[in-house]
Amino acid sequence: MNILISGALGRMGRAVYRAAKANGVNVVAGVDLNADLSDLDYPVYKDFASVKEEADVIIDFSSPTTLDSLLSFAESKQIPAVLCATGYTAEQLNKIAAATEKTAIFRSANMSVGVNLVIDLCKKAAKTLPSFDVEIVEMHHNQKVDAPSGTALMLADAIKEVDPEKYYVYGREGRVGKRNEKEIGIHALRGGNVVGEHEVIFAGANEVVKLSHSAASREVFADGAIKAAAFMLGKKRGAYNMDDYIKTL
Ligand SMILES: NC(=O)c1ccc[n+]([C@@H]2O[C@H](COP(=O)([O-])OP(=O)(O)OC[C@H]3O[C@@H](n4cnc5c(N)ncnc54)[C@H](O)[C@@H]3O)[C@@H](O)[C@H]2O)c1
Repeated sequence: MNILISGALGRMGRAVYRAAKANGVNVVAGVDLNADLSDLDYPVYKDFASVKEEADVIIDFSSPTTLDSLLSFAESKQIPAVLCATGYTAEQLNKIAAATEKTAIFRSANMSVGVNLVIDLCKKAAKTLPSFDVEIVEMHHNQKVDAPSGTALMLADAIKEVDPEKYYVYGREGRVGKRNEKEIGIHALRGGNVVGEHEVIFAGANEVVKLSHSAASREVFADGAIKAAAFMLGKKRGAYNMDDYIKTL
Protein backbone atom coordinates (compact mmCIF):
# COMPACT_ATOMS: atom_id res chain seq x y z
CA MET A 1 0.00 0.00 0.00
CA ASN A 2 1.31 3.45 -0.97
CA ILE A 3 0.03 6.29 1.16
CA LEU A 4 0.13 10.07 0.99
CA ILE A 5 0.15 11.88 4.35
CA SER A 6 -1.57 15.26 4.53
CA GLY A 7 -0.30 17.27 7.51
CA ALA A 8 2.98 15.33 7.16
CA LEU A 9 5.04 17.65 9.36
CA GLY A 10 2.58 17.73 12.25
CA ARG A 11 2.55 15.65 15.41
CA MET A 12 0.10 13.14 13.93
CA GLY A 13 1.60 13.18 10.43
CA ARG A 14 4.94 12.12 11.92
CA ALA A 15 3.27 9.43 14.04
CA VAL A 16 1.54 8.05 10.91
CA TYR A 17 4.91 7.88 9.16
CA ARG A 18 6.37 5.87 12.07
CA ALA A 19 3.31 3.56 12.11
CA ALA A 20 3.56 3.08 8.34
CA LYS A 21 7.22 2.08 8.59
CA ALA A 22 6.49 -0.32 11.43
CA ASN A 23 3.74 -1.97 9.34
CA GLY A 24 5.65 -2.22 6.05
CA VAL A 25 3.47 0.47 4.40
CA ASN A 26 5.10 2.83 1.85
CA VAL A 27 4.79 6.57 2.37
CA VAL A 28 5.24 8.00 -1.13
CA ALA A 29 4.62 11.68 -0.42
CA GLY A 30 3.35 14.23 2.03
CA VAL A 31 1.56 17.56 1.86
CA ASP A 32 2.12 20.29 4.44
CA LEU A 33 1.96 24.09 4.52
CA ASN A 34 5.49 24.05 5.98
CA ALA A 35 6.95 21.79 3.25
CA ASP A 36 9.88 24.24 2.86
CA LEU A 37 11.03 23.34 6.38
CA SER A 38 10.68 19.60 5.89
CA ASP A 39 13.19 17.40 7.72
CA LEU A 40 11.50 14.21 6.50
CA ASP A 41 13.19 11.63 4.27
CA TYR A 42 10.36 11.48 1.72
CA PRO A 43 9.00 14.18 -0.62
CA VAL A 44 6.71 16.75 1.03
CA TYR A 45 4.84 19.37 -1.03
CA LYS A 46 3.08 22.58 -0.09
CA ASP A 47 -0.14 21.57 -1.85
CA PHE A 48 -1.85 18.61 -3.47
CA ALA A 49 -1.49 20.03 -7.00
CA SER A 50 2.32 19.62 -6.76
CA VAL A 51 2.27 15.93 -5.78
CA LYS A 52 3.90 13.81 -8.51
CA GLU A 53 3.88 10.38 -6.83
CA GLU A 54 1.03 7.91 -7.20
CA ALA A 55 -0.69 6.95 -3.94
CA ASP A 56 -3.38 4.36 -3.16
CA VAL A 57 -4.86 6.16 -0.14
CA ILE A 58 -4.61 9.64 1.45
CA ILE A 59 -4.41 9.93 5.23
CA ASP A 60 -5.22 13.44 6.44
CA PHE A 61 -4.19 14.76 9.86
CA SER A 62 -3.86 18.43 8.86
CA SER A 63 -6.75 20.80 9.57
CA PRO A 64 -10.21 21.59 8.14
CA THR A 65 -8.59 24.28 5.92
CA THR A 66 -7.20 21.51 3.68
CA LEU A 67 -10.63 20.13 2.86
CA ASP A 68 -11.42 21.69 -0.55
CA SER A 69 -8.07 20.92 -2.17
CA LEU A 70 -7.97 17.46 -0.61
CA LEU A 71 -11.44 16.55 -1.91
CA SER A 72 -10.74 17.75 -5.44
CA PHE A 73 -7.41 15.87 -5.50
CA ALA A 74 -9.01 12.66 -4.19
CA GLU A 75 -11.85 12.94 -6.69
CA SER A 76 -9.68 13.73 -9.72
CA LYS A 77 -7.23 10.90 -8.92
CA GLN A 78 -9.97 8.55 -7.66
CA ILE A 79 -8.03 7.84 -4.45
CA PRO A 80 -9.85 6.96 -1.20
CA ALA A 81 -9.26 9.44 1.63
CA VAL A 82 -9.10 8.85 5.39
CA LEU A 83 -10.06 12.14 7.05
CA CYS A 84 -8.86 12.35 10.64
CA ALA A 85 -8.73 16.14 11.19
CA THR A 86 -11.25 17.62 13.62
CA GLY A 87 -13.11 20.92 13.81
CA TYR A 88 -15.04 20.79 10.51
CA THR A 89 -17.98 23.20 10.24
CA ALA A 90 -21.49 21.91 9.45
CA GLU A 91 -21.05 23.27 5.92
CA GLN A 92 -17.79 21.32 5.50
CA LEU A 93 -19.45 18.15 6.78
CA ASN A 94 -22.12 18.59 4.09
CA LYS A 95 -19.36 18.99 1.49
CA ILE A 96 -17.77 15.74 2.67
CA ALA A 97 -21.14 13.96 2.49
CA ALA A 98 -21.66 15.25 -1.09
CA ALA A 99 -18.14 14.17 -2.09
CA THR A 100 -18.84 10.58 -1.00
CA GLU A 101 -21.09 10.20 -4.06
CA LYS A 102 -17.97 10.24 -6.22
CA THR A 103 -15.11 9.36 -3.88
CA ALA A 104 -14.55 6.85 -1.08
CA ILE A 105 -14.18 8.79 2.18
CA PHE A 106 -13.53 7.47 5.66
CA ARG A 107 -13.96 10.02 8.44
CA SER A 108 -13.57 9.69 12.15
CA ALA A 109 -12.67 12.29 14.75
CA ASN A 110 -11.10 9.45 16.71
CA MET A 111 -9.19 6.59 15.15
CA SER A 112 -8.89 4.52 18.34
CA VAL A 113 -10.90 1.28 18.52
CA GLY A 114 -11.12 1.79 22.31
CA VAL A 115 -12.85 5.16 21.98
CA ASN A 116 -15.26 3.72 19.47
CA LEU A 117 -16.11 0.99 21.98
CA VAL A 118 -16.77 3.70 24.61
CA ILE A 119 -19.12 5.37 22.11
CA ASP A 120 -21.11 2.12 21.87
CA LEU A 121 -21.14 1.78 25.66
CA CYS A 122 -22.45 5.37 25.93
CA LYS A 123 -25.41 4.45 23.72
CA LYS A 124 -26.11 1.48 25.97
CA ALA A 125 -25.82 3.63 29.11
CA ALA A 126 -28.11 6.30 27.63
CA LYS A 127 -30.75 3.64 26.89
CA THR A 128 -30.42 1.99 30.31
CA LEU A 129 -30.23 5.22 32.33
CA PRO A 130 -32.54 7.64 30.46
CA SER A 131 -33.16 9.93 33.44
CA PHE A 132 -29.49 10.36 34.41
CA ASP A 133 -27.77 13.73 33.86
CA VAL A 134 -24.96 13.49 31.30
CA GLU A 135 -21.74 15.51 31.47
CA ILE A 136 -18.67 15.06 29.26
CA VAL A 137 -15.21 16.22 30.31
CA GLU A 138 -12.25 16.11 27.94
CA MET A 139 -8.60 17.12 28.35
CA HIS A 140 -5.97 17.61 25.66
CA HIS A 141 -2.48 19.11 25.25
CA ASN A 142 -1.95 22.88 25.12
CA GLN A 143 -1.40 22.95 21.32
CA LYS A 144 -4.88 21.73 20.39
CA VAL A 145 -6.77 24.38 18.40
CA ASP A 146 -10.40 23.18 18.44
CA ALA A 147 -12.66 22.90 21.49
CA PRO A 148 -14.49 20.85 22.48
CA SER A 149 -12.68 17.88 20.93
CA GLY A 150 -14.17 16.07 17.95
CA THR A 151 -14.30 12.97 20.17
CA ALA A 152 -16.35 14.75 22.86
CA LEU A 153 -18.82 15.67 20.11
CA MET A 154 -18.89 12.07 18.85
CA LEU A 155 -19.70 10.88 22.38
CA ALA A 156 -22.42 13.54 22.75
CA ASP A 157 -23.86 12.71 19.31
CA ALA A 158 -24.08 9.02 20.26
CA ILE A 159 -26.13 9.90 23.35
CA LYS A 160 -28.30 12.31 21.35
CA GLU A 161 -28.97 9.49 18.88
CA VAL A 162 -30.66 7.62 21.75
CA ASP A 163 -32.52 10.71 23.05
CA PRO A 164 -32.90 13.31 20.27
CA GLU A 165 -34.28 15.90 22.75
CA LYS A 166 -30.87 16.20 24.38
CA TYR A 167 -28.91 19.39 23.58
CA TYR A 168 -25.37 20.57 24.27
CA VAL A 169 -24.23 23.18 26.79
CA TYR A 170 -20.58 24.19 26.52
CA GLY A 171 -19.32 25.18 29.97
CA ARG A 172 -21.63 27.15 32.24
CA GLU A 173 -19.85 30.46 32.74
CA GLY A 174 -22.24 33.12 34.05
CA ARG A 175 -25.13 30.71 34.06
CA VAL A 176 -27.87 31.40 36.61
CA GLY A 177 -30.42 28.67 37.04
CA LYS A 178 -30.55 24.93 37.34
CA ARG A 179 -29.42 22.41 34.82
CA ASN A 180 -32.07 21.09 32.44
CA GLU A 181 -32.49 17.30 32.38
CA LYS A 182 -31.97 17.33 28.60
CA GLU A 183 -28.61 19.11 28.76
CA ILE A 184 -25.38 17.35 27.92
CA GLY A 185 -22.72 19.53 29.58
CA ILE A 186 -19.46 19.50 27.60
CA HIS A 187 -16.26 20.77 29.21
CA ALA A 188 -12.84 21.21 27.60
CA LEU A 189 -9.60 21.27 29.62
CA ARG A 190 -6.25 22.13 27.99
CA GLY A 191 -2.73 21.70 29.30
CA GLY A 192 0.71 20.12 29.05
CA ASN A 193 1.16 17.26 26.62
CA VAL A 194 -1.98 15.25 27.47
CA VAL A 195 -2.70 13.11 24.37
CA GLY A 196 -6.46 12.75 24.95
CA GLU A 197 -8.69 12.05 27.96
CA HIS A 198 -12.47 11.65 27.77
CA GLU A 199 -14.91 10.95 30.57
CA VAL A 200 -18.67 10.61 30.19
CA ILE A 201 -20.52 10.91 33.48
CA PHE A 202 -24.07 9.59 33.90
CA ALA A 203 -25.27 11.02 37.22
CA GLY A 204 -28.44 9.65 38.80
CA ALA A 205 -30.20 10.27 42.10
CA ASN A 206 -28.30 7.61 44.02
CA GLU A 207 -25.49 6.48 41.78
CA VAL A 208 -23.00 7.74 39.22
CA VAL A 209 -21.71 5.77 36.24
CA LYS A 210 -18.50 6.93 34.52
CA LEU A 211 -17.19 5.73 31.17
CA SER A 212 -13.73 6.93 30.31
CA HIS A 213 -10.94 6.57 27.81
CA SER A 214 -7.35 7.64 28.08
CA ALA A 215 -4.95 7.66 25.15
CA ALA A 216 -1.41 6.93 26.32
CA SER A 217 0.22 7.96 23.04
CA ARG A 218 -0.56 9.24 19.53
CA GLU A 219 0.46 5.86 18.15
CA VAL A 220 -3.03 4.55 18.85
CA PHE A 221 -4.52 7.08 16.37
CA ALA A 222 -1.73 6.55 13.82
CA ASP A 223 -2.14 2.75 13.92
CA GLY A 224 -5.90 3.17 13.52
CA ALA A 225 -5.36 5.41 10.49
CA ILE A 226 -3.09 2.84 8.82
CA LYS A 227 -5.69 0.13 9.44
CA ALA A 228 -8.45 2.38 8.06
CA ALA A 229 -6.31 3.08 4.97
CA ALA A 230 -5.88 -0.67 4.35
CA PHE A 231 -9.65 -1.08 4.78
CA MET A 232 -10.27 1.68 2.19
CA LEU A 233 -7.87 0.28 -0.40
CA GLY A 234 -9.61 -0.05 -3.77
CA LYS A 235 -12.93 1.44 -2.61
CA LYS A 236 -14.49 3.69 -5.26
CA ARG A 237 -17.09 5.78 -3.45
CA GLY A 238 -19.16 6.01 -0.28
CA ALA A 239 -18.97 7.18 3.34
CA TYR A 240 -17.14 5.00 5.85
CA ASN A 241 -16.24 5.30 9.53
CA MET A 242 -14.69 3.34 12.41
CA ASP A 243 -17.87 1.29 12.86
CA ASP A 244 -17.48 -0.07 9.33
CA TYR A 245 -13.88 -0.99 10.02
CA ILE A 246 -14.64 -2.52 13.45
CA LYS A 247 -17.29 -4.78 11.86
CA THR A 248 -14.50 -6.39 9.82
CA LEU A 249 -12.50 -7.39 12.95
N1 LIG B 1 -9.01 11.42 14.34
C1 LIG B 1 -8.13 11.23 15.33
O1 LIG B 1 -8.03 10.13 15.93
C2 LIG B 1 -7.21 12.37 15.72
C3 LIG B 1 -6.20 12.17 16.69
C4 LIG B 1 -5.32 13.22 16.95
C5 LIG B 1 -5.45 14.43 16.29
N2 LIG B 1 -6.47 14.59 15.39
C6 LIG B 1 -6.64 15.81 14.62
O2 LIG B 1 -5.66 15.82 13.59
C7 LIG B 1 -5.31 17.18 13.26
C8 LIG B 1 -3.80 17.36 13.36
O3 LIG B 1 -3.38 17.18 14.69
P1 LIG B 1 -1.86 17.41 15.12
O4 LIG B 1 -1.81 17.32 16.60
O5 LIG B 1 -0.96 16.53 14.30
O6 LIG B 1 -1.67 18.93 14.67
P2 LIG B 1 -0.33 19.68 14.22
O7 LIG B 1 -0.63 21.14 14.30
O8 LIG B 1 0.85 19.14 14.95
O9 LIG B 1 -0.15 19.26 12.67
C9 LIG B 1 -0.95 19.71 11.63
C10 LIG B 1 -0.06 19.82 10.41
O10 LIG B 1 -0.90 20.11 9.27
C11 LIG B 1 -0.34 21.17 8.52
N3 LIG B 1 -1.43 21.91 7.90
C12 LIG B 1 -2.42 22.62 8.51
N4 LIG B 1 -3.24 23.18 7.59
C13 LIG B 1 -2.77 22.82 6.37
C14 LIG B 1 -3.16 23.09 5.04
N5 LIG B 1 -4.24 23.85 4.76
N6 LIG B 1 -2.45 22.55 4.03
C15 LIG B 1 -1.34 21.78 4.28
N7 LIG B 1 -0.92 21.49 5.54
C16 LIG B 1 -1.62 22.00 6.57
C17 LIG B 1 0.44 22.02 9.53
O11 LIG B 1 1.49 22.74 8.86
C18 LIG B 1 0.96 20.97 10.49
O12 LIG B 1 2.25 20.50 10.12
C19 LIG B 1 -6.13 18.05 14.23
O13 LIG B 1 -7.32 18.44 13.59
C20 LIG B 1 -6.42 17.09 15.39
O14 LIG B 1 -7.56 17.45 16.14
C21 LIG B 1 -7.34 13.58 15.09
